[in-house]
Amino acid sequence: MHTSGPPAADSRSVVPQDEPTGWWRDAVIYQIYIRSFADSNGDGIGDLQGIRSRLGYLAGLGVDALWINPFYPSPQVDCGYDVADYRDIDPAYGTLSDFKELLQDAHAHGLRLIIDIVPNHTSSQHPWFTEALAAAPGSEARDRYHFHPGKGEGGNLPPNGWQSAFGGGPAWTRVTDDSGRPGQWYLHLFTPEQPDLNWENPEVRADFEKTLRFWLDLGVDGFRIDVANAMIKAPGYPEMVDGPDPDDGSSPCWDRDDVHHIHRSWRHVLDSYPGERIAVAEAWVPTVQRLAMYLRPDELHQAFNFDYLKAEWSAPQLHRIISDSVTGLGAVGAPATWVLSNHDVVRHLTRFGGGTVGLRRARAAALLMLALPGSAYVYQGDELGLPEVTELPDDARQDPVWLRSGGANPGRDGCRVPLPWAGRNASYGFGPAHSDRSWLPQPTSWADLTVEKQEADPGSMLSLYTQALKLRRGLPRADDGTLEWTDTSAPDSGLLVFRRPGGFICTVNFGPQDIEIERPGDLLLSSSPIDGTSPRPLLRADTTAWWSDERGDTRTQQ
Ligand code: GLC
Ligand code: CA
Repeated sequence: MHTSGPPAADSRSVVPQDEPTGWWRDAVIYQIYIRSFADSNGDGIGDLQGIRSRLGYLAGLGVDALWINPFYPSPQVDCGYDVADYRDIDPAYGTLSDFKELLQDAHAHGLRLIIDIVPNHTSSQHPWFTEALAAAPGSEARDRYHFHPGKGEGGNLPPNGWQSAFGGGPAWTRVTDDSGRPGQWYLHLFTPEQPDLNWENPEVRADFEKTLRFWLDLGVDGFRIDVANAMIKAPGYPEMVDGPDPDDGSSPCWDRDDVHHIHRSWRHVLDSYPGERIAVAEAWVPTVQRLAMYLRPDELHQAFNFDYLKAEWSAPQLHRIISDSVTGLGAVGAPATWVLSNHDVVRHLTRFGGGTVGLRRARAAALLMLALPGSAYVYQGDELGLPEVTELPDDARQDPVWLRSGGANPGRDGCRVPLPWAGRNASYGFGPAHSDRSWLPQPTSWADLTVEKQEADPGSMLSLYTQALKLRRGLPRADDGTLEWTDTSAPDSGLLVFRRPGGFICTVNFGPQDIEIERPGDLLLSSSPIDGTSPRPLLRADTTAWWSDERGDTRTQQ
């Protein structure tokens, strides 16, 4: 089947509703890594106008919303997660008026737009940090960050043993005072160029509220909150306890209970705007119960499901994680979310085995994820079946994780390689015609994975995603989290079968054997060939199939 073109803009355009629709409860949200999505001017760096030029593609794919990684002015030490100005656009990505045009056009295409906010730390080039360095210990300027005297003789040792999350040593760096002598230390849970903000400081809170309002006034539909679980640090900076992360809020810097006060106040701001503006938490926390705390009715709307993202291609594991997520998040009235890849992890096609096995599993995993109740996140290139690029030359790599580990950790560049859109030569349509520039080199094998090529191939990953998203729109809403495992489910034999209200059934064979199943209804879609007419069709290893039971009531009118 050829993919459908974009629907007429006015048929789907986002218009503010009087009644809440809960649009986000089952939305499919497409993650755009701006640097690598589409480059409008040929400098090798993706940008806002590049995204704008591809809105027809995204609407045609059938997603509901876009989340764009940070585009703020930034020295780009951590690809934009080091923000120097929260209320402007990095010139490499465009201007505020480009952003306004993009937002307007996205809405006209029926696509909501979520932006990334980075509250745990600023860039070391943020004016606040420059001011703090020039100011004296104990000053108001230093109080916006975590400055502290060192330990040991002459304060030569960091205030405690906390380590940077990116490797490369302590989470503290020492500054020099104005006489040129070594002075206080400041905290950075990530790189030294990302000093942590002090969220006990009222000015920090007020300024972020101003930032939220700035973007909400422009009309954004929500925020993805970076490191939403680390903004509060324990007074006195006690040592970290060895062993697994505690799940009772007792870590001195991760997932502390007081962080919820901040999220409640942000929810208040979001709710003061019309049109259901949402927030999604990036919070790596130890249990579903701790995650659910971020999703209580007066806090955030969604959180990424990292248990799901980290899972292997395994029926027992996914059976458990799906059940726990639906129940655990349902307990606070929140929809579950599902995600397979993002800009921080090895792409799932490669995680699931790579090559033809990885591709087969990635196809099956896509249909499983899109069948689950709740909201799903698709990372750019998932829909093209892009693998992790493992063969990047060392001198091309830019991730601080690679640099700070002295090359021991390959870092995250391999999942951030610019998308292939069309043609046989680099940059494969990433840039304008005849531009071969891309900030990370694309493998030549990607000539076969371009959007152009896959749109013309009914068997491609892109066609699978497009068909699945189209069908998903016709299914009864999946916002209530209802999912029922049937008694034919046999996780230990690699088979999962579940039913959703409205006669929708999903069967997944995780392998290694092909499994003969009893045909549960009419075949809607499958990730690999299956005889949908046989009373006992063979569900091949690593295959997901969607069915509608004999009452045929799955396809409701939209
Ligand atoms: C989040 C981002 C990651 C970034 C880090 C520090 O984990 O997803 O890309 O490096 O925060 O801001
Ligand atoms: Ca560009």
